Amino acid sequence: MKDFIFNVSTKILFGRDQMKNLASEIKKYGSRVLLAYGGGSIKKSGLYDEVVKIFEDNDIFYKELAGIEPNPRVDSAREGVKIARENNLDFILAVGGGSVIDLSKLVAGAVYLDCDPWDIVIKKAKIEKALPIGTILTLAATGSEMDAGGVITNLETNQKLGFGSAYTLPKFSILNPETTYSVNAKHTAAGIADIMSHTMENYFTLGDGAYMQNRLAEGILKTCIHYGPIAMEEPENYEARANIMWASSWAINGLLSTGKSTAWSVHAMEHELSAYYDITHGIGLAILTPRFLNHILSDKTVDMIRDFGINVFNITPSDNKMNDAKKAIAYLHAFFEQDMCIPMTLGEVGIDDEKLEIMAEAAARHAGGTIRGVVELTRDDVLEIYKASL
Ligand code: NZQ
Ligand code: ZN
Repeated sequence: MKDFIFNVSTKILFGRDQMKNLASEIKKYGSRVLLAYGGGSIKKSGLYDEVVKIFEDNDIFYKELAGIEPNPRVDSAREGVKIARENNLDFILAVGGGSVIDLSKLVAGAVYLDCDPWDIVIKKAKIEKALPIGTILTLAATGSEMDAGGVITNLETNQKLGFGSAYTLPKFSILNPETTYSVNAKHTAAGIADIMSHTMENYFTLGDGAYMQNRLAEGILKTCIHYGPIAMEEPENYEARANIMWASSWAINGLLSTGKSTAWSVHAMEHELSAYYDITHGIGLAILTPRFLNHILSDKTVDMIRDFGINVFNITPSDNKMNDAKKAIAYLHAFFEQDMCIPMTLGEVGIDDEKLEIMAEAAARHAGGTIRGVVELTRDDVLEIYKASL
């Protein structure tokens, strides 16, 4: 296992009755708040009214940054920076899913820099300081509530790229599973696929001796496989929503990758699909993952994928390791398709073969030439995986 430092200081307030702590948590950091949210789900659910009442009752001044898009656009960050500066705001409360939280992180860092927010994403500028952020999570998926990163889209350049800074780690996150009751079946499934993908990106590595991390990863995958179908069937099942929500935070907060080298190969390929076709992130990951595993299956990786099948899907091991590994991949595919009702081809989400080469090229380029994961992927490998996903 490699050396590592694990230091995730986000305070988690989990459960049904945590909004009572919102004002006091904010007041530790500021009193002039940028209230950031998405396209209106929080107004429908009543959460917006609840937050605003808490602000009013506690003399918390606020301005709104509304309408943050799924696959959040850099334009919204530009607007957020302007509002924060004009009103001398000192705290950001992000209420929503990963898109709202990611965008808020970019605003938090960009406020203090004399540059366009996109410069941070393309690494022309570096966050040295940020407004403190708190989150109220409404969709279990990205783990943005307990990690330091974000992913931002620039429609003008067809780019969707990640950035990260220790300064943008949320100070606190309120996780009430009930807020996810209203998430529809599509986004519930996409969220679960995203959580599983984060776990698998950390899990599929070789020879690092990270035994404990891998058993924890299997626990998170089993949690998703057990509770995913329940949440799909019974959207208001608290136990299911609670387990999935807590899994979302731990899949990507750094614990599973401690002591490992991880490359996030499937995410690198998916971000191009979202950049060019604006598809839902988790759906793209579900489509690509079984094809990725098929592509990298070889004598080198067969034990790793077979163990995944045995430990996560309870496959009975046979003498034919290769067959066992193929079975594991088939089980994963079937879980996404049958239990999560995810459309499992690119065609079904509106992607044909027109831009596959451009996207494969971009995926390799953004990774620095090749994607150096458990198996190194060249542009041609990515293209093959895209084609197999059509
Ligand atoms: O915009 P509103 O009206 O809020 O509706 C949203 C949106 O349409 C809706 N929604 C959220 N909570 C809801 C709800 N609808 C009903 N009830 C609720 N309680 O769901 C839709 C999707 O929301 P979004 O925030 O886009 O989804 P998600 O949380 O999956 O975030 C996806 C974004 O996060 C990035 C993705 O690339 C994508 O841009 N990621 C961020 C990561 C990170 N920060 O570490 C890592 C991930 O791998 C991922 O790349
Ligand atoms: Zn993801």
